[in-house]
Amino acid sequence: MTVVPSAEAGATIIPEHVAIIMDGNGRWAAKRSLTRLRGHGQGAEAVREALKGCDELGIRYLTLFAFSSENWSRPVEEINHLMGLFRFFFRKEIKALCDAGIRVKFIGNTSKLPSDIQDLIEELKVRTKDNNKLVLTLALSYGSQAEIVGAMQALGEKIKAGDLSPEEIDENMVSRNLQTADLPEPDLLIRTSGEKRLSNFLLWQCAYTEFVFLDVLWPDFKKQDLLAAVEEYGSRNRRYGAL
Ligand code: IPE
Ligand code: IPE
Ligand code: MG
Repeated sequence: MTVVPSAEAGATIIPEHVAIIMDGNGRWAAKRSLTRLRGHGQGAEAVREALKGCDELGIRYLTLFAFSSENWSRPVEEINHLMGLFRFFFRKEIKALCDAGIRVKFIGNTSKLPSDIQDLIEELKVRTKDNNKLVLTLALSYGSQAEIVGAMQALGEKIKAGDLSPEEIDENMVSRNLQTADLPEPDLLIRTSGEKRLSNFLLWQCAYTEFVFLDVLWPDFKKQDLLAAVEEYGSRNRRYGAL
């Protein structure tokens, strides 16, 4: 956590890691009598706003919930449209992300994604691996409970092989076996659209995260909304159970 002066936010406490549940695309479209698919298209634009806001504030880690493991139960037409948007966004933005010094990472069961998107994911990871301005982690086909199960299975395998005893398992070891092993825990979690739940996002990692719920629908999200959430974060007293 750092304290830096920002032209728009004043001297404020800047969270090192911000995670966002980008929700409300369907409702944004319904309000305009558009199809849900149009809402997702507009939602992609809001990602640019979030990136701009992170750049201005000096946020080092941004993690975006783009598609949950439960979202596979949506209509196939909507899933295909979302996959098309990911494909389009990854192809189109790869150079801009490199130029902006953004390192792109992924969490989730990406093996369920179409194979060409898996190829693009590999390309993005490799081409941005030396960037260090911002770490952008995209949660795609991500479910926190499945991630935790994966960590338990990995530890179980080590026990079976005789390389680990159950008493050696502690919180740090569990964290190191999650897909987020190389990320700090989120300081601030933002959910748009007015819903107030985690929907299976970063359950373990958010043990002491500050939550800010915004009524704005994700396609309407602007960098000012990020600044407002960061200001709210700055007013919180993080006690971590101590006095
Ligand atoms: C978030 O918007 C995007 C994804 C979950 C992929 P929604 O599609 O959930 O929009 P609402 O919640 O129906 O408005
Ligand atoms: C959470 O939103 C997943 C993403 C934003 C990618 P949902 O819209 O899927 O969550 P629920 O169904 O309202 O809990
Ligand atoms: Mg939703």
